[in-house]
Amino acid sequence: MQNNVRPETMERITTPALADAFIAEQVDAIRAQVGSKKVLLALSGGVDSSVVAALLIKAVGQQLVCVHVNHGLLRKGEPEQVIEVFRNQMNANLVYVDAVDRFLDKLAGVAEPEQKRKIIGAEFIRVFEEEARKQEGIEFLAQGTIYPDIIESDGVKAHHNVGGLPEDLQFELVEPLRFLYKDEVRVVGKALGLPDGMVYRQPFPGPGLGVRCLGAITRERLEAVRESDAILREEFAKNGLEGKVWQYFTAVPDFKSVGVKDGKRTFAYPVILRAVNTVDAMTATVEEVPFALLKHITERITSEVENVNRVLYDLTPKPSGTIEWE
Ligand code: XMP
Repeated sequence: MQNNVRPETMERITTPALADAFIAEQVDAIRAQVGSKKVLLALSGGVDSSVVAALLIKAVGQQLVCVHVNHGLLRKGEPEQVIEVFRNQMNANLVYVDAVDRFLDKLAGVAEPEQKRKIIGAEFIRVFEEEARKQEGIEFLAQGTIYPDIIESDGVKAHHNVGGLPEDLQFELVEPLRFLYKDEVRVVGKALGLPDGMVYRQPFPGPGLGVRCLGAITRERLEAVRESDAILREEFAKNGLEGKVWQYFTAVPDFKSVGVKDGKRTFAYPVILRAVNTVDAMTATVEEVPFALLKHITERITSEVENVNRVLYDLTPKPSGTIEWE
């Protein structure tokens, strides 16, 4: 049983020097724990798993096997960034699994949100399990568990409650970030040389765009979510809102409305914009995005994204709305 209480004497990691000291200490600890054995990691490209990957690459290099599962519900450019940063720049042992068709086939026709989450979670475990079985001599499983995951059993990651790997794949855990808060993970990530876009990224749910393509997922609407999300992120970055707003994204519902384009009647989907601020995700307020920027984003989305003819801004705080739409 590993100790799960952050030592009282542990200093808060706020500076590059403190991050370097933490990294040196963890590199020694990981080497002592792992020896010459192999470690497996599910690398989503989120902050936590990316920092764990960078730390383990530093500690045990090629003994780490990173598995990146592309389930088709990632944001635009994410799988490419994982490959670029970890395989090309950090020379990691990275297995890229294109499971897009597999996930979308399983999800076809499923509209109920919790059912969608269960399918995505269970399929993820299945794909990861298959990859784990292909690898020889794995004895450890690295995870990006951070301190809030341990102390708030009801925290954001508790949504991932879909069961785990089977008995015969119960590896010993390596969880070097388990006493760190999110802000400390970011300082460590920066010190490990990860790009800002990875270290300071906003929270992204495990089921990804799957819960933003509302109702039964179709490839057409999923593309509209992905492309509109990319435009929103680009415009927020350009206008100084990246890093200021806690979470922002788009959602596409499963109904159409009438519009007009180039003098012709259209029948297409709306895009909903959401931008919220919160401390703990239990309550949230809506960001007062400048009206001119909202108009510009609307203009871009309606002209650049296929199958879309309207854009709406969600003004609802939490409560009464949740942050996600489903
Ligand atoms: P809600 O919608 O409950 O969201 O107000 C609160 C925070 O949790 C994230 N979220 C999820 N994260 N798996 C996750 O890993 C999920 O199924 C999930 N659902 C919501 C949401 O993005 C927000 O940050």
